[in-house]
Amino acid sequence: MESAPSSIVDSPKIIAHRGANDQFNESTIPAYQIAAEQGVDALEIDLRMTADGKLIAMHDESLDRTTTGTGNVSDYTRSEIKSFTTVEVFNNQTIKEEIPTVEEIINVFSDTEHYYIETRLVDGEAVMEEPFIELLNKHEIITKGLITIQSFSQTSLERIRELAPEIPLTLLFGKGKFNLREALSVDYPYIGMESTDVNVESVNQLHSQGKEVHVFFTDMHTQKKEQERVNDLGVDGYFTDDIAFTKQLLGRD
Ligand code: G3P
Ligand code: CA
Repeated sequence: MESAPSSIVDSPKIIAHRGANDQFNESTIPAYQIAAEQGVDALEIDLRMTADGKLIAMHDESLDRTTTGTGNVSDYTRSEIKSFTTVEVFNNQTIKEEIPTVEEIINVFSDTEHYYIETRLVDGEAVMEEPFIELLNKHEIITKGLITIQSFSQTSLERIRELAPEIPLTLLFGKGKFNLREALSVDYPYIGMESTDVNVESVNQLHSQGKEVHVFFTDMHTQKKEQERVNDLGVDGYFTDDIAFTKQLLGRD
């Protein structure tokens, strides 16, 4: 097992989970701009594919929770998606913001930020990987070492590896689904896991193989305590929903 590539930064990585989602509508360009201004190490983006095969930044399969639309992203073409907006309330103020394509995000940040992008199967098929790699190559993101790709799907990761073997990959495990034996057996430099599955044994054993542990958090109420706990265990990356807290925790404020 080669040691984990340090294509982001060597020290614990601060990864803006869906952008600065505690300050602006998640997965939007302003949310990523705020994160970039606050000095994170990478921008975390979830990919969804529209009915006409375009790649947008959105976590959920459906539009309902975060936008003015309803139904699934895959039900609409990109231009139909653009007829909706994200909508969230911050400090009693309703904010509406465009739903970005991943190319629009790359056009804004170009080679000034590291992109930590999550791929997923589409109706069980690995169909987004090829157009995604073509897009990254069009913008020279791969050659510049500015991309890390993460997925819950090994099928997706293996398709990425076929297309662009130089990209560092993260295998994600869902909350309560972490399997140390599997995590130790796979050939990926990074393992992503939900914080409550992180313990001293898993971190130490993955580290002994030269793998990094990148942690995400699903409970906003316990996130600060969980970040402190996993920090004591020496994890290597934080998909944080509170950039200021993580910077302060890691002494980077
Ligand atoms: O990609 C890390 C983390 O985002 C995985 O969980 O559901 O927030 O995409 P989710
Ligand atoms: Ca994600």
